[in-house]
Amino acid sequence: MNIVTALLKTSIGKKIIMALTGAVLIGFIIGHLVGNLQIFSDPEKINAYAHFLQGLGPALWLIRLFLLLCVGLHIWMAVLLWCENKKARSQSYTASHTIQASYASRTMKYSGFIVLAFILYHLAHFTVKATNPEYNEMMWTLADGTVVPDVHLMMVAGFSSLTVSLFYLISVGLLSFHLSHGFQSMFQSVGLRTETWGRALKVISIVLSLAYFAGNAVIPLSVLTGKVSRPDSSIEAVAESVSSHLNTPSG
Ligand code: HEM
Repeated sequence: MNIVTALLKTSIGKKIIMALTGAVLIGFIIGHLVGNLQIFSDPEKINAYAHFLQGLGPALWLIRLFLLLCVGLHIWMAVLLWCENKKARSQSYTASHTIQASYASRTMKYSGFIVLAFILYHLAHFTVKATNPEYNEMMWTLADGTVVPDVHLMMVAGFSSLTVSLFYLISVGLLSFHLSHGFQSMFQSVGLRTETWGRALKVISIVLSLAYFAGNAVIPLSVLTGKVSRPDSSIEAVAESVSSHLNTPSG
């Protein structure tokens, strides 16, 4: 606890917290992307994978809490640093800003805010399924006979909507943009960015964020173009099941 309190007292300490939490979040989004790319395999694969994750039980909740803590700290530090910068700028407004800040670095707070809005929508969409309760009806029987949520069908149904796909594309685009600066900045904050490899780091950041965008974008695009699909019958079966529930008089 003492280390955190000491870090919170200085700007560099706050930047270190941002870097460390950013590193955890980057690890998560890359792992999540690799998992999601299983949509290109048989539905059995991604459904068994999602079932395995759900089966982690308390460990899954610990991971979720840890991620939430990282998101919270990352945002909190960003707000504190932004307030400090604003205060410092208003005190020395005559000083000219000669340091060339990239567009991505100047817009970090906007891209970060939109990514946060996206995460909230995304959780409501695919995890809580509040936006589309019919996803709860989508079930798959694994090779061993276990009936599990059909995450593959849920993704196909979700991205069949042009509006939803566009929203995902824009959001992961902004997240990648956020990453293109955040990744380099992370090294700078922990003192690992030197003159010699600063340029290489910039290239790595851009390649990483473009690859990350491409990996995510290919999912909705493949559904929209019919490269990834499911027999209409599975979607129809869900629609029928939902309407039969709606038509059943309650009580
Ligand atoms: C095309 C892009 C994406 C796709 C297709 C996708 C897909 C999914 C799916 C299907 C789930 C629910 C899994 C289940 O029910 O077991 C999920 C959960 C989640 N996604 Fe994504 N996702 C994408 C991008 C992202 C991004 C960019 C972030 C973060 C910035 C993110 C964060 C999360 C989180 C936090 C969860 C909840 C995990 C949990 O249950 O604890 N996702 N995603």
